[in-house]
Amino acid sequence: MNQAELHRLLSLKSQNKKGGIPLTSLYEQRLATNLSLIKTQFFSLYTEKEHKAFFYTLLDKLESLFKDRPTELQKQDIARLNSGNWYQSEQMIGMQLYVDRFNKDINGLKEKIPYFEDLGVNFLHLMPITTRPTGENDGGYAVNSYHEIDPKYGTKKDFLAFSKKARENNMFLMLDFVVNHTSDEFIWAKKAKEGSQHHQNYYYTYSDRHIPDEFEKTLPEIFPQSAPGNFTYNAEMEKWVMTCFNTYQWDLNYRNPEVFIEMLGNLMSLANLGVDVIRFDALAFLWKKLGTSSQNLPEAHTLISLFRMCLQVIAPGVILLAEAIVAPRNIIKYFGEDTAEGNECEVAYNASLMALLWNSIATKKASLLVKSVTEIPEKPNDATWINYIRCHDDIGLGYEDDFVRVTGYDPSAHKQFILNYYCGKLEWSPAKGLLFMYNPKNGDGRITGSTASLLGLETALEQNNKSSIDYAITKILMMHGIILTYGGIPMIYAGDEIATLNDYSYEENEDHVNDNRWVNRPMQNWSVVSTLKKEKDSPSAIIFNELKHMIRLRKEQIVFADTNNLKVHSCPNEHIFVYQRTHENESIWVLSNFNEVTETLNISWLLSIGVHTGKNSIDLLTGKSFELIHNELPLKPYEQLWIKNISPS
Ligand code: GLC
Ligand code: GLC
Repeated sequence: MNQAELHRLLSLKSQNKKGGIPLTSLYEQRLATNLSLIKTQFFSLYTEKEHKAFFYTLLDKLESLFKDRPTELQKQDIARLNSGNWYQSEQMIGMQLYVDRFNKDINGLKEKIPYFEDLGVNFLHLMPITTRPTGENDGGYAVNSYHEIDPKYGTKKDFLAFSKKARENNMFLMLDFVVNHTSDEFIWAKKAKEGSQHHQNYYYTYSDRHIPDEFEKTLPEIFPQSAPGNFTYNAEMEKWVMTCFNTYQWDLNYRNPEVFIEMLGNLMSLANLGVDVIRFDALAFLWKKLGTSSQNLPEAHTLISLFRMCLQVIAPGVILLAEAIVAPRNIIKYFGEDTAEGNECEVAYNASLMALLWNSIATKKASLLVKSVTEIPEKPNDATWINYIRCHDDIGLGYEDDFVRVTGYDPSAHKQFILNYYCGKLEWSPAKGLLFMYNPKNGDGRITGSTASLLGLETALEQNNKSSIDYAITKILMMHGIILTYGGIPMIYAGDEIATLNDYSYEENEDHVNDNRWVNRPMQNWSVVSTLKKEKDSPSAIIFNELKHMIRLRKEQIVFADTNNLKVHSCPNEHIFVYQRTHENESIWVLSNFNEVTETLNISWLLSIGVHTGKNSIDLLTGKSFELIHNELPLKPYEQLWIKNISPS
């Protein structure tokens, strides 16, 4: 039983009491439930001998943060607590977007609520909207404040009005908490630059290269091309400061307990804007230690759990998403392990599924995908994934080398092949992507590009080739069909619902030209949206309408709620990806053919996994039962079926 369940139990008990429980006692109750855990975690990071006073500061802070939580959100916390794991529901459909690139500003976004409702989207991930440096700012991931809205998006009042409206329309909101670093213009960085030793201790600052050089021996480089190395010299301070990401993003020093306590306050100021899910950005990097890669360290997990346990006392309705784009076995740890099981993040990006789907497209096979997802330990019952195809970032090829070998490839040759396939190095490949941060030192590289361009639509349109266009459309739909039916919350990347191609205009923008992730951060094309109803046969319209249809189907099927009810089958045909979702005695099987030719499955195998055939089952997507040919079920290139048995009457 995780802490959330414990809190739910207590909350229900208090509700049954006559007149309910007053808010102040509620605080006492929640604190008492978590206090010993908070104490253990706090003192495991910060020794009791030296840091006892900070623990008292933390307790005072918790109380004042609780008092500051707006009453409306306090009430919502109670409602959320009592409504179970709402984030696992089949009703959840997400979309990620840049507010300014979508429709100007916060008020512009509010105008588009009907667009989301039409498509069926009820959960929005808004990219950073708080103040940031002018010029380069990593799309707002260099923060000048955690709660002041950048004027180009509007005002705090606009945002509060928007989040209220979202709540009224049963929409959920997610914002980023850039927990690993601030910008070099953040108030603490400014004071550090002015010479405040106190604030220099909020970051990792060094007066000579000795420790930085030691760190460099084992720290990987995140942006080897545009920001090589992990330290930046600051002339004002006359010191080196740790900057794992860009030179203007200063890594916070969580070895200093004050940083944790202050950041908890920042987290709450974000949550109090009316945010339901907080995306913990780059959380794998939170704890730094000489002689290690400083990623995924046990202390980072303790720290995240500590944030979570504190949040549970002050705002238990708010949940956390782990942005840990790391190896599959490491991602799962962000749900919490052992005594912390279920006490870290409720949600994590399914970066493994994402990267493996792109591998399957390039290899036309599902084998590595099946091998990898079936060998990873199952996530805790209270956790869920965000399943996605594309986001604003690059695609990293995070495959387990051992699994790659088992499927018959050499890991580094295979990585090179994938990069070649997507980045214009293979004549036969329809994909149009760009190479991101290629590191000649180790051959590592990542991929950027929009879903539609990576899946061949841009090339097909250039060639004006009808059948290639159709294939690209089918691929785009098949990939979305997977994220809509695999266990978790599907997160559609804004623009993908209308098949937006690569946007090369970033090359003309001096703030973006050094970062080709901007090729997949387009402006939402409202003129295309306005044609969807008239030009029903355009790729955009076909994709939009079919996606809308699939979303509706997902919401109708309780099997698509995530209760760890997913079974991935190892399929005799290596081109076909097959999994089953089950609720009580009802199942849906999702079959996807990754090959560009028709592939078949034998009836006896289908029967062995429980699929009925003939008139006793239907494909939900077409509403028809499927035809067998010589006892084989054919799947056309990139075809997908959502099969459901109908009990014979
Ligand atoms: C996350 C964001 C990415 C950003 C990085 C640094 O990985 O998704 O866009 O560059 O954090 O904040
Ligand atoms: C973070 C993310 C990784 C991304 C990088 C920059 O490291 O975890 O996915 O590649 O930021 O985009």
